[in-house]
Amino acid sequence: MCGIVGYLGEEKALGVLLEGLKRLEYRGYDSAGVALVSREGLQVVKAVGKIRDLERALGDVEPEDGVYLGIGHTRWATHGRPSEANAHPHVAGPIALVHNGIIENYLEIKRELEEEGLTFQSDTDSEVVAQLIFHYYEGDLFQAVSRALERVKGAYAIAVISEEEPHRLVGARRDSPLVLGLGEGEFFLASDIPAILPFTRRVMLLENGDRVLITPHGVTVVDERGGEGERPVERIAWSMAQAEKAGYKHFMQKEIFEQPRAVADTLRSYVSPDRGEIYFPQGGLEEISELDRVVVVACGTSWHAALVGRFWLESLVGVPVEVDIASEFRAREPVLGSETLAVFISQSGETADTLAALRLARAGGARTLAVCNVVGSSIAREAHGVVYTHAGPEIGVASTKAFVTQLLVLYLLALKLAQERGRMGDGEVAGRLKILLSLPGKMEEVLSTEGRIETLAREFFHVRDFLYLGRWLNYPIALEGALKLKEISYIHAEGYPAGEMKHGPIALIEEGLPVVAIAPRDRVYDKMVANVEEVKSRDGQVIAVGTQGDPLAQRVDHFLAVPPVDEELTPFLTVLPLQLLAYFIADRKGCDVDQPRNLAKSVTVE
Ligand code: AGP
Repeated sequence: MCGIVGYLGEEKALGVLLEGLKRLEYRGYDSAGVALVSREGLQVVKAVGKIRDLERALGDVEPEDGVYLGIGHTRWATHGRPSEANAHPHVAGPIALVHNGIIENYLEIKRELEEEGLTFQSDTDSEVVAQLIFHYYEGDLFQAVSRALERVKGAYAIAVISEEEPHRLVGARRDSPLVLGLGEGEFFLASDIPAILPFTRRVMLLENGDRVLITPHGVTVVDERGGEGERPVERIAWSMAQAEKAGYKHFMQKEIFEQPRAVADTLRSYVSPDRGEIYFPQGGLEEISELDRVVVVACGTSWHAALVGRFWLESLVGVPVEVDIASEFRAREPVLGSETLAVFISQSGETADTLAALRLARAGGARTLAVCNVVGSSIAREAHGVVYTHAGPEIGVASTKAFVTQLLVLYLLALKLAQERGRMGDGEVAGRLKILLSLPGKMEEVLSTEGRIETLAREFFHVRDFLYLGRWLNYPIALEGALKLKEISYIHAEGYPAGEMKHGPIALIEEGLPVVAIAPRDRVYDKMVANVEEVKSRDGQVIAVGTQGDPLAQRVDHFLAVPPVDEELTPFLTVLPLQLLAYFIADRKGCDVDQPRNLAKSVTVE
């Protein structure tokens, strides 16, 4: 997620833009830039690194006089590595643009513009939008933006200026947030409220498809049908800390609720459902001639994602799949070869054990693929290929949105390899991709039950032990649910394959022991119901995660429902109630949810 700001007013724009960008620093980024319009024309300064690096690059560029108009940007790379060329604002002729989002059809538009002789300075999707606006520009920026956005598919929040129109600031959004701040004789655009709070608390929340023209005389909003959009002016009562969490109490809570969009953004980046195509631009998969097995290596939550991915890779691709914890993988002498695809999953891309395991695999001759959330991170750079998750910056130590986007990338990888090996036809792939499009909506439905789960947490926050049970695809989800609880509430929690109950854990069952049973309608449902009966007959308390309307709800103490979904996709939904349960229990206990004791967001030491 990038951060964008725009300003038109009576103050010197540069100071306002830098202050606004600093308020977005909490989101994490790898480069920043500003564009200013004054009587000298368009001035653009960009820098890799932090705002202080941009300030050093700015030196004394402050325009002496002229209209105070500008835009600024902090970049969280999605297309193209962190570099000055890839940093925003992007310039096309007299126009400068900043963008937050993912353009799905940028390559198609880029090819068209290149065929007309245009050359590009960057490999970003955002520059394509700037060039497309310039392509339509005939002196009216708002019209050119409107025409360009008719061609653009994907998510965008943009702010655009032209040195030929020093009194106009244009903005637009679709599936990416953009707010308009209203000051005294001055106007602000921002991707997030914290950027404008130092200047005004009066905001207009733009709706999907809105375009906005800002001049010193006021604001005109045009809605997606081309009509005049009447948008109410709201007053923001949040403190700055609340605003950074978008009103949520913790970053973890905010990130739990960002998961539907994270899945949608990641899908948008790699999939064209109509054509049944999956495309990993930096995956390097075409280099793999022969594939005889897959090894997936990771730590913690990422390891849980790997365990889920194994089922998909085995069943769809038909190759042996081995999953290992990175520290254990390093302790072995793994037998690898050029026909081995070794996949390394890491949100941070800096986990020491996973990085060391990657180096071991490369030395062993394997083809390596990273699945990371941080562009340009060590694991992403050192692997032969990389597929980035588009979860945006994950700030809470407990991983949530990165996890579900890791699952999605692994599922897409399995579909792509199955398609390439002729095990799945284009039609079937297209059908499965269409089903994936329904996931964000189903996830929203599960997250809407947060109130029930918060109430449930009140019954269990004092408990000392939890057992989580699951089978097949939901055994790793049992592990993940237990890890979420233990790492933020410090309650001992153990995830176990439900089929192992008779081999030991059933001895733990006693009156009142809470047992989470993950039992959606799938091929192992009946066996899970038997496990539930085992626990109930020994007076254990069962919290079941199951399919809406399932009669199991009448046989357990608490039932957390998820909507029906294709059985191989249940992990995307069953993990959500477990994240919320852990969150509300930990919050109820007064734990430091975002920074739990003894833990770091990235374990860069062994
Ligand atoms: C997950 O909630 C934990 N924070 C931890 O297990 C984490 O998943 C693990 O340290 C791996 O981190 P990575 O994905 O950045 O490599």
